[in-house]
Amino acid sequence: MRIDIVTLFPEVFDVPLRTSVIGRALERGLVEVSVHDLREHGLGRHRSVDDYPYGGGAGMVLRPEPLAAAIDPLRRAGAHVVLLDPAGERLSDGLARVLAGIPHLALVCGRYEGLDERARTSLVDREVSIGDYVLTGGELPALVLIDAVARLVPGVIEAASHESDSFATGLLEHPQYTRPEAFREMEVPGVLLSGHHGEVARWRRRESLRRTLERRPDLLETADLSDEDRRTLDELGHEADHA
Ligand code: ADE
Repeated sequence: MRIDIVTLFPEVFDVPLRTSVIGRALERGLVEVSVHDLREHGLGRHRSVDDYPYGGGAGMVLRPEPLAAAIDPLRRAGAHVVLLDPAGERLSDGLARVLAGIPHLALVCGRYEGLDERARTSLVDREVSIGDYVLTGGELPALVLIDAVARLVPGVIEAASHESDSFATGLLEHPQYTRPEAFREMEVPGVLLSGHHGEVARWRRRESLRRTLERRPDLLETADLSDEDRRTLDELGHEADHA
């Protein structure tokens, strides 16, 4: 998978892309990332990339010519161009999986009050938002998107890890425990020490349902539930009513 990034702040990407799982994926060549400085396509002696909005108002708007100069070659190379913008489609597990299936992405990081509408409509294939809040630019959203997408690329992490992810199953994940067996008088649930795989799996499913019921009951409306899951949810609801 190849990802190009167009940004006014290339240095933001240095450390995150060299660190941990994503750093290793890049090192191993599973994902290839290039960062392009939009300023290199700036206009005039000051390499200007923005200007005042026509019609007046606060803030600055990115001009279309520098964006076109940066994005056109990426489009010609076959990239699917994604603008990070609060007005975009909300990033979800489902959208991350769609994007992970695209071999070449170009991520465009907006700044200021946004970009000229003609650049948006003629240079961008898709707009993505990471949530209903406004950040100062698209760099952190681009990193969030890269992290969510790269971990789905085959070989980056164990396949079994994302099959059990929260959201992939439609439910939140069950609690996890590691050593020690007792921490500040809190014990690891006995079933996890039993070595009984069937019972461990049943306990995990029950706790996953419990957590989803308590924290994100909205997810239960679309989750893939068996008859046994529904019985478990009835019991858990009953427990909660009588707690
Ligand atoms: N740029 C500014 N805020 C953003 C958000 N929430 N998502 C994507 N890009 C953004």
